[in-house]
Amino acid sequence: MAEGNRTAIVTGGSRGIGREVALRLAALGYDIAIVYVGDENEAAETVAECRKAGVKAAAYVCNVASFEETKETVSQITEDFGSNIAALVNNAGITRDGLIAMMSEENWDSVISVNLKGAFNMIRHTARIFIRNKGGRIVNISSVSGLMGNAGQINYSASKAGIVGLTKSTARELAAKGVTCNAVAPGFIRTDMTKNITEDNSELLRTIPLGRMGEASDVADAVVFLLSSPYITGEVLRVDGGIAM
Ligand code: NAI
Repeated sequence: MAEGNRTAIVTGGSRGIGREVALRLAALGYDIAIVYVGDENEAAETVAECRKAGVKAAAYVCNVASFEETKETVSQITEDFGSNIAALVNNAGITRDGLIAMMSEENWDSVISVNLKGAFNMIRHTARIFIRNKGGRIVNISSVSGLMGNAGQINYSASKAGIVGLTKSTARELAAKGVTCNAVAPGFIRTDMTKNITEDNSELLRTIPLGRMGEASDVADAVVFLLSSPYITGEVLRVDGGIAM
């Protein structure tokens, strides 16, 4: 297939923060490949919205925790979009919260597999494309939980702290190839993931210096900024209303 525009792959792009990132990148003229699991209608909605910007967009059902599935999906994306993959946003993530003394092995494994190994899998299968293209931009979504820790989220905060190390090592390893790799660490962002947290909870608000939860668009701003910079790499940018300063 002929080379198209520059393409951005956004994992977890069917809804929430990933959807907002996909829409912003579509508005900037990137073709959009969304990787997701779960609700087909949400993914179809995001794809339709992206296409309104006049770009090509498609959604791929793929469990990022699977080495083989991500390999096949990246290969399918290059077949469908051409090999001008310019950006990868590793945003897919899950929570399975619980206290450490009660946490099941399954809840530990699934969160590490999706949140941390998922980002590894996607970078592993796109790195050669970026190297061949002599450039690329990677942004991984971490969390303030990974920077500060959070009681009841040992699995999640370990996965998100892991993202920080993964980001910095990738940044160092691929810098000479013109590839940047950065992370965004959001605080409390209003999405389906946080639907059980409400701002009526004044305890929560007290922990946020700016006094409100963030919006997906606040995170998308940071992702777009990092994708636009040729000279920032290995950075972890907090988008948290000041929680982790
Ligand atoms: P969400 O639950 O609304 O969306 C998650 C997305 O990830 C969906 O598109 C889903 O299809 C995808 N996904 C889940 N498991 C997957 C898998 N195994 N393979 C492929 N895709 C998968 O979540 P939200 O709130 O938009 O979060 C996005 C990212 O931001 C996550 O990494 C999350 O940990 C992180 N984050 C979110 C915060 C928040 O307050 N909402 C705060 C800090 C970080």
